[in-house]
Amino acid sequence: MYEDVEEILLDEDAIRSEVARMGREISKDYADRRLHLIAVLKGSVVFLSDLMRALTVPVTADFISISSYGTPTPAGVVSIRKDLDEPIEGRDVLVVEGIIDTGLTLSYLLRNFRTRNPASLKVCAFINKRAQRIIDLTVEYVGREIGEQFVVGYGLDYRQRYRNLPVIGVLKPSILDRHT
Ligand code: IMP
Ligand code: MG
Repeated sequence: MYEDVEEILLDEDAIRSEVARMGREISKDYADRRLHLIAVLKGSVVFLSDLMRALTVPVTADFISISSYGTPTPAGVVSIRKDLDEPIEGRDVLVVEGIIDTGLTLSYLLRNFRTRNPASLKVCAFINKRAQRIIDLTVEYVGREIGEQFVVGYGLDYRQRYRNLPVIGVLKPSILDRHT
């Protein structure tokens, strides 16, 4: 896998320290509350598994799977493939995303979740590409801000590959070019 990576943006140590920092911030903000994490499959699962262990408040977790049409960067049309198992009414919800790009996916999800009347609704993303944003969104907790590069690893994929790469890296253009 590493042979396909041009540049490593976050190595394992950098990831660990960002996750630890986010865990401290979130645990402090939600002190004395129960936090309900909603992970957006599949890109967030590696981050979720680290983040939840960095939280010192009691948490529950649920998962949602959505499909967006258009690859590799989905735009616009979103539908729910697997909905949440449990209601979120009255709960303190934190949506956990691996990466936010245009914001279209997340804005759809937030609109959907708001109609279910959670007590609170916030967003946590490990990677934020703010420069790419089409829709304005508030992201309360961010691991790292990056530019417009397409990144893989730590759960993030290119055509379902590289999710198990333990770092966040930029793929060589030759790998991406092969499919465009
Ligand atoms: P958005 O709706 O444009 O914010 O798209 C968010 C989704 O696009 C993420 O959840 C990822 O699945 C995918 N995505 C966007 N940028 C990247 C990237 O750099 N690497 C891997 N997946 C990405
Ligand atoms: Mg993807």
